[in-house]
Amino acid sequence: MLGIMLVDLGSPLVIAILIDHVISLGRYELLVPLMVFFLLLPFASAACRTVSDYTITLLGQRVIFDIRLDLYRHIHQLHCQYIQNATTGKIMERIRGDVQQLQTVLTSNTPQLLVQVVTGFIMVVIMLTLSVKLTLMMFAGIGLYLVNYKVMVPRIRKIQRRYRRKLDRLSAYSQERLAGTLVVKSFNRERLESRNFIKRNFLAERVFHRFRATNLTYTILSGAITWGNYAMVIVVGTLLVIRQEITYGAVTAMVAFSFRLLYPASLLAELSNQLQQASVSLDRIFELMNAPKDIPEVGQKRLVSIKGDVVFDRVNFQYETGKPVLCDLSLEVKAGQTVALVGQTGCGKTTLVNLIYRYYRIDDGRLLIDGHDINTLDIHYYRRSLAMVPQEPIIFDATLAENIAYGKPGASREQMERAARLAELGPVLDRLEKGLDSRLGAEYVTLSVGERQRLCIARAILANPAILILDEATSSLDTHSEKLIQVAMERVMAKRTCFVIAHRLSTIVNADLIVVMDGGRVLEKGAHSELMAIPDGRYRYLYTTQTDHSSMARTT
Ligand SMILES: Nc1ncnc2c1ncn2[C@@H]1O[C@H](COP(=O)(O)OP(=O)(O)OP(=O)(O)O)[C@@H](O)[C@H]1O
Ligand SMILES: [Mg+2]
Repeated sequence: MLGIMLVDLGSPLVIAILIDHVISLGRYELLVPLMVFFLLLPFASAACRTVSDYTITLLGQRVIFDIRLDLYRHIHQLHCQYIQNATTGKIMERIRGDVQQLQTVLTSNTPQLLVQVVTGFIMVVIMLTLSVKLTLMMFAGIGLYLVNYKVMVPRIRKIQRRYRRKLDRLSAYSQERLAGTLVVKSFNRERLESRNFIKRNFLAERVFHRFRATNLTYTILSGAITWGNYAMVIVVGTLLVIRQEITYGAVTAMVAFSFRLLYPASLLAELSNQLQQASVSLDRIFELMNAPKDIPEVGQKRLVSIKGDVVFDRVNFQYETGKPVLCDLSLEVKAGQTVALVGQTGCGKTTLVNLIYRYYRIDDGRLLIDGHDINTLDIHYYRRSLAMVPQEPIIFDATLAENIAYGKPGASREQMERAARLAELGPVLDRLEKGLDSRLGAEYVTLSVGERQRLCIARAILANPAILILDEATSSLDTHSEKLIQVAMERVMAKRTCFVIAHRLSTIVNADLIVVMDGGRVLEKGAHSELMAIPDGRYRYLYTTQTDHSSMARTT
């Protein structure tokens, strides 16, 4: 910083001394020291610049890293509803694009601007001592400059914000369509998708062009103002020299200074653009940071070992106000029991098991775990006793072992292998060359949906939970594998409370309790034989139609 200032402030002064003292007054003994000083200036400046650049970049990187980490952490704590509503693409754009924007400004330009502002301030002080009149005239120019800034910058900022919103949408759109590329292909929509992409890209580009145009107007105006200022200094300065109010040297220095003031001014103009972008990005980062967090962690109670009694006591729940999903639902499940949830799609089965995880707060009614209200429990501690095989199997880009042990990081390889074989993943293990160490993911081994589902089952088995939730865990399996897995699962399920959601009723006939749901309410509940005994019962109807279909399928 010092080096940059030295060159900016030092060289005009050296020129002034050269003209006024060496040339006009003939003090030639000053010539050599002045020349040496002049020659050394760039070296000193380069050294200082290297040190400052290094420190600034390092600091900037640190700050950016911290922001990125905070954002990432925060996203994991966001309210489930917010995450479900925001597309991954939009959130990614903030972590990537907006943070990048900040990084550019923080590491490259803002420090420079800071140096320039300080140098500019010192320049003004020196100029005042050289000529008050000329300096005041330059102030008029600066005034004009500020007016320009105040008028144009809010406009630029508004357009900039729109541009980033368009980019968000573009990013969300491409993320979604790329993820669904097979659907796109299957319906022959490639050309249409490209066209849609071009359209969205074009819309974003149009906003960008408006942004560039406004920005250009601003840069040209501020350039014209600074240049006009420079010209005025030469004209008025010459007049003042003729009237012998100031020396030649002073006027040369003033001209050099006004020329040098041009640089910080034009830099400010160029930088304002980037600062605008950064402040928009910062706003957007803060918006994400201020997004509603997961329900507050009020509960402190840590249950050392959970038995697995689950009681829904007149529970009402809705995702959005006015659209109740669970109505006055009561259900009592004893530790170790297996409960099957049955019902039409959309009747609230997944919602019910999500509540056991306490992803959402219950509006009305109570949910008791081993007799304790779920809201009084320390949620992270409590969730350790749960495991779920979700409706849509989720596999991470990692090895098979890492995927299986996701819920129990310290597990031994024997434990992992046992869980995998229990979940009927044995054939997959034997097929893969590297066994448990095979890497899964798009670029590596890809698993079929059924295999993924079994992997999720293995993950849940290994976690050894007190409460196990299977959300249509066997829906993608063929009847043969389903039978195999059923036997294994019954062994696993025997020791714990299990919630099983299944559309294929043959898989749940042995459940201790079958709950038939309809529109968020419990329609019937009881064991298979009890429900079959109800003459016009829904379960009886569903079961007989399903078995009729399958027996028909067998005979044909
Ligand atoms: N995050 C959400 N925000 C708003 N509404 C939701 C949300 N998740 C589910 N719903 C709504 O709640 C209702 C119950 O959904 P849920 O996923 O519990 O059904 P389900 O019984 O599991 O259905 P399926 O058998 O198809 O899995 C549906 O009408 C659904 O539209
Ligand atoms: Mg569901």
